[in-house]
Amino acid sequence: MTASKRISDKLKHRIIALDGPGGSGKSTTARLLAARLGYNYLDTGAMYRALTYVALKNRVLPSDAVELKKIADSADIRFETHADVNRVFINGQEVTQEIRTPDVTRHVSEVSAHKCVREAMVTRQKELGKSGSIVAEGRDTTTVVFPHADIKVYLDASIDVRAQRRLLDLQRAGIASTLEEQIEDLKRRDAFDSRRAHSPLTRAGDAVVVDTSDMTIDQQVDEIIRLLTRAIDRA
Ligand code: DC
Repeated sequence: MTASKRISDKLKHRIIALDGPGGSGKSTTARLLAARLGYNYLDTGAMYRALTYVALKNRVLPSDAVELKKIADSADIRFETHADVNRVFINGQEVTQEIRTPDVTRHVSEVSAHKCVREAMVTRQKELGKSGSIVAEGRDTTTVVFPHADIKVYLDASIDVRAQRRLLDLQRAGIASTLEEQIEDLKRRDAFDSRRAHSPLTRAGDAVVVDTSDMTIDQQVDEIIRLLTRAIDRA
């Protein structure tokens, strides 16, 4: 058996959980990591964004927990993941671009703060990770969704780097913004996501912190595979 075969066997059916603030590099890292390992990619933020998109479209207020719960319980959220894009569908409609608009971004923290909304989403997320072979990313995947993940990583980066990454993503999608706007938006969401009562964004005590400020995506993917391999060897 070759060394690479041994490694790939060892890495089969594992759960990798990545948390961190917006712009820390979670999404791209998780998507490429999943492609490299042949795993499924679970973008939990996209689920909250899809829900927010439907709520806004149906004029449901982000403060209306009762109506939001109804949408959360009945929505059919699906992903179609490729190495370069994670397509998102809700109730059969593709919303890959729509869930990244400033309007959705502005309201998603409030929508995702409701306990009943989180419970509905977390139940689905656990179900999706039931058989392993998954890379999940978000704000509570290391603490609430997959507390027994094989490797838990908290990705972080400086606010300037995170805002620059967000700005680039928006520019690629043809949405105009400025660095200052992105810094303000990230600060606002960091504060909201970290201070909310239910499943706030926190570092799990046993999560490994990786600062991605000066790392390329490839380095981030390699680092997480290295950490996973080390965790498995130590177990
Ligand atoms: O990672 P993102 O920017 O796409 O996440 C959008 C929002 O969703 C974020 O402001 C907080 C919320 N979120 C959450 O509350 N829990 C998660 N597991 C993932 C995202």
